[in-house]
Amino acid sequence: MYVITFANPKGGSGKTTSAMLLAEQIALSGGRVAILDLDPNANILAWSETRKAGGQAVPFAVLARPQAEETVELIDSLADSTDYVIIDLEGSKDQIVTFALSRTDLCIIPLDGSPMEARQAATAVRLVQTTANMIRTPIDYILLFTRTNAAFQTTDERDVRQEMDINAIPTLPVRIAKRAPYTRIFRDGVLLAELPDLVTAEHKGKTASVTGKALKQVASAIENARDYAQAVIHTLTKARRP
Ligand SMILES: Nc1ncnc2c1ncn2[C@@H]1O[C@H](COP(=O)(O)OP(=O)(O)O)[C@@H](O)[C@H]1O
Ligand SMILES: [Mg+2]
Repeated sequence: MYVITFANPKGGSGKTTSAMLLAEQIALSGGRVAILDLDPNANILAWSETRKAGGQAVPFAVLARPQAEETVELIDSLADSTDYVIIDLEGSKDQIVTFALSRTDLCIIPLDGSPMEARQAATAVRLVQTTANMIRTPIDYILLFTRTNAAFQTTDERDVRQEMDINAIPTLPVRIAKRAPYTRIFRDGVLLAELPDLVTAEHKGKTASVTGKALKQVASAIENARDYAQAVIHTLTKARRP
């Protein structure tokens, strides 16, 4: 079982969205996934409950935030039933963060390309390193550029990337661009894979070119999510120690 944790003290950095995208892509490729929702806002839990109440499928388990001291036990108890545990973490120095990180194989730290977010990401890196020192076990981590411009790399992003390289902080080679279909996941309680049918239905009566444009946007979002998930799995299997 692999444990992948999303952490960054900055709210709105893309933790919850990136966690959901990863969960869906792994589930689609046949992996058994459980999401542990440790975000106090519990967006993923709410998403899952709403879908279940409406009779819609949820292709992975979603677990609510446990008591802090039960976190490690809960993660370990999933080992027989789960291939990937994805943890949506708040980024603070809360005790539950330390417990979750202590079981983490790969901590993903999302950030946009701005210098301000780079500083917050550095705080997250230090938190991972402190926890690793505490448990005397290395914890792999990687930065993930999210909400980036789909068409080009901004100079800010390039500068931040360079700074990370200089400081030997690893960054995922695939970025998640800022895309409207990703915001629909929580707004409309959908899965990315449901969007092609949904968009087709919504565009009934519109011209073929308008519909085609909307569908292309969805296809690009799905492709980006797939590439991102593959890069994460590649990093994870490369990083794991025997
Ligand atoms: N790649 C993306 N493309 C478009 N919108 C995004 C993307 N990632 C996050 N968002 C939006 O940004 C906001 C914050 O994202 P969220 O994943 O909730 O961040 P966090 O969990 O770190 O607080 C949400 O409204 C979400 O829909
Ligand atoms: Mg969140």
